[in-house]
Amino acid sequence: MLLDNDDERILAGEEGETKQKMLELLVALGKVFGAERLVPIASAQVSGASYKTIGKYGLEWLNSLDAKAVVPAVLNPIGMPRTRWQEMGVDPAFAKNQQAVVAAYERLGIGMECTCTPYYLRETKFGEHLAWSESSAVCYANSVIGARTNREGGPGALAAALVGKTPCYGFHLDEKRKPQVVVRVQADTRDWTIADFGALGNHVGKLVGNRIPFFSGLEAAGRDQLKGLGAALAATGAVALYHVEGVTPEALDGSFDLAGLETIAVESEEIRKLFKEIPVEAVAVGCPHCSPAELEEIARLLKGQVVTKPFYVFASQGVIDKNLRTVDAIEKSGARVFADTCMVVSPVMEQYESIMVNSGKALAYVPDMCGAVARIGTIADCVRVGTE
Ligand code: F3S
Repeated sequence: MLLDNDDERILAGEEGETKQKMLELLVALGKVFGAERLVPIASAQVSGASYKTIGKYGLEWLNSLDAKAVVPAVLNPIGMPRTRWQEMGVDPAFAKNQQAVVAAYERLGIGMECTCTPYYLRETKFGEHLAWSESSAVCYANSVIGARTNREGGPGALAAALVGKTPCYGFHLDEKRKPQVVVRVQADTRDWTIADFGALGNHVGKLVGNRIPFFSGLEAAGRDQLKGLGAALAATGAVALYHVEGVTPEALDGSFDLAGLETIAVESEEIRKLFKEIPVEAVAVGCPHCSPAELEEIARLLKGQVVTKPFYVFASQGVIDKNLRTVDAIEKSGARVFADTCMVVSPVMEQYESIMVNSGKALAYVPDMCGAVARIGTIADCVRVGTE
């Protein structure tokens, strides 16, 4: 693998043992995946942030490290809001351990945002190389922005944040970003909501696995709809990049050669089947974390209403801070807007037997991660059910 003088100095231990070990890890990863070189990254997003996931030994390992991130980096959602955890009903013993994990990352210079939507906090540009971990964030970065990242594991993303580089293989390379299967959507999608796109992703992910789908027939796909589509594709398949004809940046000019690719046709009835009207105990919106536009829609629909069930909304702290009036309007109804966590990673959600979501990803994950039955509906359906 081609290494420059800076890399050699780090490998010789001249910038400390932690950086040396981190670069060794990146080089080892690069060798496994056939990378010829490292590539500088613009930002990192680091998973392995919930105490529920990394536990005592993960925390001990983090505390043993001694270096600082050299690029902007954020954490994945953790098991609780950093500030309002008592209000969410988080167990104090869990909170103590979770705070220790966050403090360990803060000491390493990782930005104190815990979100799967880092693209709302810092502009991420077309063609930038990244080292992001969370599957929906990876899918959004690659597909909707046209940035370049593999789906990093927690240690790989942390190593990249501390070194400022990642091995150049997979989605960093032009030839690994071409469509591998065509998905023809045979439905009028002009009025489709985020939930419809999420349900489509939930369905198609199971059909395409880890291949790169090229969608045709998807009209009026806005960025929030695409966010929901990619999150669900990554959840039920292992999709890290998809293209939408005439919409996503690498599929605007019709230059992909689709000849010989398998074509899968999807009808709207297949998607509608996922919208089952079962009774629920709680409602949770914001998977992936809400955009400002989603917060506004929730506030508009909840105006003058009072929620009759626990109603959770999840967004990054940065988005909440910039939309405080909207957040206040939502909370007037009794709903709660929490940062840093979500309906899947917070142990608090395990108290419910059934949860309504507007996300194709949460529809897939809530049963396994929270042990609850999940129902999908639009944001308007969530508000109707949450206030009836
Ligand atoms: Fe984000 Fe949690 Fe969904 S991490 S994508 S809100 S499962």
